[in-house]
Amino acid sequence: MSVEISDILDIVSKQNHWRSKETINLIASENVQSDSVKNIEINDFMGRYAEGHPNTSYQDNRYYEGTQFIDQIESMATQELIMLANCKQADVRPISGNAANTAVALALLRGNDKVIANSIEVGGHISHSPIGVVGRRIQVRGKVLRLGEKKSIDINYWPTTEDGYHLDKSKCVDLVEQISPNMVILGKSLFLFPEPVREIAEVCRSKKIPILYDGAHVLGLILGGKFQNPFLEGAHFINASTHKTFPGPQRGVILGNMNSEQEMKWWNSIDRGVMPGSSSSHHLHTLPGLLVAIREMKLHGEKYASQTIANAKAFGQALTDEGVNVEAREFGFTESHQLALNVTNFGVARNIARSLAEKNNIITNYNMLPGDKDPKNPSGLRIGVQEMTRYGMKEGEMGELATLMKAALIGKSVKDEVIKLRSKYTKVHYA
Ligand SMILES: Cc1ncc(COP(=O)(O)O)c(C=O)c1O
Repeated sequence: MSVEISDILDIVSKQNHWRSKETINLIASENVQSDSVKNIEINDFMGRYAEGHPNTSYQDNRYYEGTQFIDQIESMATQELIMLANCKQADVRPISGNAANTAVALALLRGNDKVIANSIEVGGHISHSPIGVVGRRIQVRGKVLRLGEKKSIDINYWPTTEDGYHLDKSKCVDLVEQISPNMVILGKSLFLFPEPVREIAEVCRSKKIPILYDGAHVLGLILGGKFQNPFLEGAHFINASTHKTFPGPQRGVILGNMNSEQEMKWWNSIDRGVMPGSSSSHHLHTLPGLLVAIREMKLHGEKYASQTIANAKAFGQALTDEGVNVEAREFGFTESHQLALNVTNFGVARNIARSLAEKNNIITNYNMLPGDKDPKNPSGLRIGVQEMTRYGMKEGEMGELATLMKAALIGKSVKDEVIKLRSKYTKVHYA
């Protein structure tokens, strides 16, 4: 079969139309970029190289020539992000949240080290697991460890309270005291409520244990000032994606709040973990878009984060009123952009997610809920309202959406109604 360029254009144009005009996207890890962010990504930086750090008037820090303009963009993005996050250091080079986690793991962990993180069963990300970057991609004298090898990382899991959506503060502190890990990781992928950073940081700081907060999902909410600020509670690093609640291009960042000499040693190792550890040239063409998105968040982040969380709570209530099982009801459903639905009374979560997307244009993902054992056959859907909030939906629309979702869950086809609702919300707000 020969592929014509026109065929490729056709597929891309179908995707553009379907996902930006006809579907309700509730995937919690995605977002839509403003036209300014999108348009600026088509530029000459694509395909260029700029390893190292921006050159300055007094020092050469690059391994390539021809970098004067990306030097300006990279320096501005770093400075603007430091100001927005009110922290001391930022590395804008990781090409994704996973690459940011890889950089930190390569920098701070060695064979046989102990880590405490959230397990996948309670919403932790795969990069913190035995099969992810923390568990296996650790170099010991130039060697990459394989899963289960003798010197692999010993990953321990934070104890949760009975509901499974909160960490048990005092048991977590006891665990740190008991095993004295080499690093702790907070934050997760199914992320409804803040983590007890303050309590854990107190004991970790007294033992000089680095505290990484993985804010991949909640970066936009943190920078909008509407979710816990891990730095104010004592975290050393925040790693994040820049395309989830932070509505920028697909990239990652590492933010730091290093003060002491010891902490600066960690930061310098992380610098090498980023380059050459986890990337070389860092997809330069998307960096101007990150700078634009930082500016958008500076101007509109607080309002956007506020409306996103209000929408998530309203959606939780509206779905509950429709008879859908929304998790964590006794805690107000959520304090983030996400909700967790237990859909077992409607069928198999995997099939439901597929049918919502294919038959109804409602895009979600199936997800494990606390207590589930099989990642391929979980009982939940994870949903996030950050994208539809950016398209201007408010609490009232969450009610309409809940009615459509319930109808789809009981097997009706609501594709036409979904397209009709969506057609009123196609312009990006907070831009
Ligand atoms: C907690 C967490 N960390 C890291 C990542 C990986 O981020 P990325 O997809 O930007 O590589 C994700 C992805 O969703 C995540 O949920």
